[in-house]
Amino acid sequence: MSDREPVASAETSEAQIAVHWKEEALIHPSPRFIAQANLADPSVYERFALDNFPECFKEYADLLSWDRYWHTTLDTSDAPCWKWFVGGRINACYNCVDRHLPKYKNKAAILFVPEPEDEPLVALTYRELYVRVNEFAALLRDFAGLKAGDRVTLHMPMTPELPITMLACARLGIIHSEVFGGFSGQSCAGRIADSGSTVLITVDGYHRNGAMIDHKVNADIAVEAAGELGQSVDKVLIWQRYPGKSVSKTPLVKGRDYIVNDLLKDFAGRRVDPVSMPAEDPLFLMYTSGTTGKPKGCQHSIGGYMAYVAGTSKYIQDIHPEDVYWCMADIGWITGHSYIVYGPLALAASSVIYEGVPVYPDAGRPWRIAERLDVNIFHTAPTTIRMLRKAGPDEPAKYDYHFKHMTTVGEPIEPEVWKWYYEVVGKGEAVIVDTWWQTENGGFLCSTVPALTPMKPGSTGPGVPGIHPVIYDDDGNEIETGSGIAGNICIRNPWPGSFQTIWKDRQRYVDTYYAKYCKDPKSKDWRDWPYLAGDGATQAADGYYRILGRIDDVINVAGHRLGTKELESAALMVEEIAEAAVVPVADEIKGRTPDIYVSLKPGFEANKETEAKVVKAIEGTIGKIARPKHVYIVPDMPKTRSGKIMRRVLAAISNTLDIGDVTTLANPDVVEEIRVLVQGKEKVATKEAPEDLKRFGEEG
Ligand code: WT7
Repeated sequence: MSDREPVASAETSEAQIAVHWKEEALIHPSPRFIAQANLADPSVYERFALDNFPECFKEYADLLSWDRYWHTTLDTSDAPCWKWFVGGRINACYNCVDRHLPKYKNKAAILFVPEPEDEPLVALTYRELYVRVNEFAALLRDFAGLKAGDRVTLHMPMTPELPITMLACARLGIIHSEVFGGFSGQSCAGRIADSGSTVLITVDGYHRNGAMIDHKVNADIAVEAAGELGQSVDKVLIWQRYPGKSVSKTPLVKGRDYIVNDLLKDFAGRRVDPVSMPAEDPLFLMYTSGTTGKPKGCQHSIGGYMAYVAGTSKYIQDIHPEDVYWCMADIGWITGHSYIVYGPLALAASSVIYEGVPVYPDAGRPWRIAERLDVNIFHTAPTTIRMLRKAGPDEPAKYDYHFKHMTTVGEPIEPEVWKWYYEVVGKGEAVIVDTWWQTENGGFLCSTVPALTPMKPGSTGPGVPGIHPVIYDDDGNEIETGSGIAGNICIRNPWPGSFQTIWKDRQRYVDTYYAKYCKDPKSKDWRDWPYLAGDGATQAADGYYRILGRIDDVINVAGHRLGTKELESAALMVEEIAEAAVVPVADEIKGRTPDIYVSLKPGFEANKETEAKVVKAIEGTIGKIARPKHVYIVPDMPKTRSGKIMRRVLAAISNTLDIGDVTTLANPDVVEEIRVLVQGKEKVATKEAPEDLKRFGEEG
């Protein structure tokens, strides 16, 4: 541990801020777990050492069934766009469905739990999944006219039709781009346009928090807005939540909108051969927020991605075919793609899909589901754990379920929350893996390996086998291993699950993830291209990494990354607004929520209507997830002399932190005015802050 002060100053670069916390004690996995683990051989770390890179990843590729075996493990000729398992041909859908039929056709592939508790659960066997996927693939090919390489946008919630749609696309080599169901029609439009989709697949409605959501209305908004962006959508395919009965009042547009269930009648019993695809062709796009500009379409490959999610599902999630596995993420995020759909199904697991809100109708719901289905592997995010802990701290004990394994993902977990997860949810019996990774990565980067390495609350652990992290300071010097000094965490080597590029924007891919620490832009040697994750991290003496959050100004709300720039530009769509600045506020449940500060154009007066318009603009363009906690209309923004908004000052006010020295600002007096507006006249005592809030907006 370093004894440097955890305060940024002109001399301390942001990346180097030292961090102070208590080292937590290690907790060892139970012998019962070790006895059944998929990975109990400690030599795995040697097999996956850098000396054996990249050939070590053959082990993961061999978990798949190849149509034609590959000849080159890693092709670096187009660095840093890595190509894995070159020469191979494969189909992702075949690997998740067809190949399991001889042994597992009568086993549940998907267990669907509707939100209304009186609605019966649906179990889809591997055979039934095979039939549905084939019929829908036939529809996509013969009715929608889609073929390998085409992009199609999905805007679907958590029902079995979503994996059926994804797998049907994969069967034909169609690149799917699923947009989180909770995102607005506007957000969906941007992704339709960027990906060049001519077909949108959606649903009429779904249950959420006790209400029936009309979702079809978003398709109308999305298609219209995509049209304005220059992308026409000729077909909207609508799955019905209850086949034969519409739950949406929104009328169909003739010649554009089609009800999938009606069309499917013509495809009953149809079979479609899986298209044998080059391993390095794209499987899907997943858009993720960035700090600036539009969301980035992370392009994931077929062969490399499938190998990596199968490998990590087997060894880190420890999934066996006989397990009942429940990942409570949304399939609309990468976690759901990798660890609800592709990874578990590649291993012939039974994957639970829950439609609704974890605390609906009460905080016992997840544990009733776990008891009923006899779930033994559970996977969720700190934000949900915090929510369940707050709403029902004693609920888990009331239900007779037993997890052997639990996962946390998406943001740093506070040791206190980790301990509740371990002791109360896991009943002291289950191992926990704290998996650190990103949309870009396809699968886990850091985690303890259950059975092999002990757990440490609040720390993700070392790199998983084959992942070799390094922490650099801002100047590209390696921070000493195990020193506890914070810096920018990078990965030294490529890995098969990594995205291939940003869709149609290779330059942005290189600039965002590689430019900072690239040793030679002309190099074709992977050693010259460390991957910049964009997170701050420290490494303790035992080799475990602790993730500190984003080094840029993205706000992580309930595990979802929101670009502050996106929110600000949405606010600026309101006529009255002149300037907007978004800052993260610590929130007990969601981790961070955005506060937005706006100043008005001359001639306008501050009032509640304007505040409401800002909220509406943000919800309309991005979605409810981005709803600001507060909208503060301020007389002016605190600015540097060069005119940059000092977000750091605003973040300090929102979080009641020490505001620090503001005398060098162009308009220092406004700071106290804003403080009074937010905190009231009386000075309030300042609080201790998490590291990411302290560092937020440091660059001005
Ligand atoms: C960012 C990626 C792919 C997982 C879902 C989120 C943060 C993720 C952890 C963890 C601390 C974590 C990082 C990362 N993050 N997992 N276990 N501990 N922080 O995917 O939306 O692409 O966000 O989430 O800051 O960069 P994402």
